[in-house]
Amino acid sequence: MSDKIIAPKGLAGVVADDTAISKVMPEINSLVYRGYKVQDLAEKCNFEEVAFLLVNGDLPDKAQLDAFTAVERGERGISADLKAVIERFPKEAHPMDTLRTAVSFVGMEDPRIWDDSKETSIEKYISLLAKIPTIIAASYRHAKGKELIDPDKNLSISENFFHMCFDKVPAKEVIRAFDVSLILYAEHSFNASTFTTRVITSTTSDMYSAVVGGIGALKGPLHGGANEQVMHMLKEVGDPEKAKQWMLTALEEKRKVMGFGHRVYRKGDSRVPTMKKYTEKMASFTGEEKWLEIANILEETMVSEKGIHPNLDFPAGPAYYMMGFEIDMFTPIFVMSRVTGWCAHIIEQRADNKIIRPLSGYNGESEREVKSISERS
Ligand code: COA
Repeated sequence: MSDKIIAPKGLAGVVADDTAISKVMPEINSLVYRGYKVQDLAEKCNFEEVAFLLVNGDLPDKAQLDAFTAVERGERGISADLKAVIERFPKEAHPMDTLRTAVSFVGMEDPRIWDDSKETSIEKYISLLAKIPTIIAASYRHAKGKELIDPDKNLSISENFFHMCFDKVPAKEVIRAFDVSLILYAEHSFNASTFTTRVITSTTSDMYSAVVGGIGALKGPLHGGANEQVMHMLKEVGDPEKAKQWMLTALEEKRKVMGFGHRVYRKGDSRVPTMKKYTEKMASFTGEEKWLEIANILEETMVSEKGIHPNLDFPAGPAYYMMGFEIDMFTPIFVMSRVTGWCAHIIEQRADNKIIRPLSGYNGESEREVKSISERS
């Protein structure tokens, strides 16, 4: 075993490869996408600009953004076959499961599935960026027994998503907060779902398979699924008066409290202050201050008792709730955003590929003799 590297459990602290897409710097509480601070991108750009940046390497100028936006808006429609498939989905299915299946179907419909040139990959990426919101909204409307709403080419990605879900574009404050959440969720180096997409890509499988794998990994409550669990928790607490005791009991019972902790950040998540600012804006805009009050008490108690800080899912969950989304829509919204990071990593992995295939230690039975069925009876 001496020539082998024994990795720590969960690959904690292991640098698995290089990337030029983003850098997480926990020691200075910072995250950059392609060299730009995520906080600055959130304040100065819209989600479309960041979606262009992650895959192309730099922010677009006006002409580049117009061209990118025109292609994205033209790709939002889904086929009649896919709509028919969505209409057969069980109404009680979780939207992450319907999304996983629908993205797989989009892959089956693409005759260029095996074309992995950079140019075609970027076209597929823009198509996924455009279609995923349509799929999420269509599945939502189907589950509610409502007519599907076609995408509107005159609207931004965020505006169009509300339009397709609710037949209404909300106030600009809501759109801005939603857009900021998409920017903050877009990319985060080798997190579990992104690493999954790279592992799948490393086998020279196709982009759709990698994205479907990413959706599967993101669904887990220890990863993207945490934003849903945060809102379930806030509802369970229900009252700011009960929040402190709720947290003390949870800690005493050694429960994992959703929306807290992070594998990389130990002193706080670089994205939280920006998201929190927009969650606060949502609370004053909607008048639903209660969720924020509960969240603040939970955070204060967790930080003072354990020194564990909230992650992005903690402010994002209540923000989506106040925007009018049902809780099981939160992780699919995360996919709408993270598909940008996934596709950037898929393209990067392909450009300098080596199959990702670690070794395993063996802690099973030592070698033993196989006896035939009659000898075993
Ligand atoms: N609630 C309670 N305790 C927590 C905690 C949480 N959310 N997150 C970490 N801890 C505790 C652990 O129990 C552990 O304590 P111990 O040393 O006494 O055993 C210590 O903090 C270190 O945590 P660890 O489990 O080693 O962290 P990890 O890097 O393996 O896991 C997460 C990171 C994100 C999976 C973990 O913090 C977690 O499950 N958080 C809740 C889910 C969540 O919000 N996920 C979204 C991540 S962006």
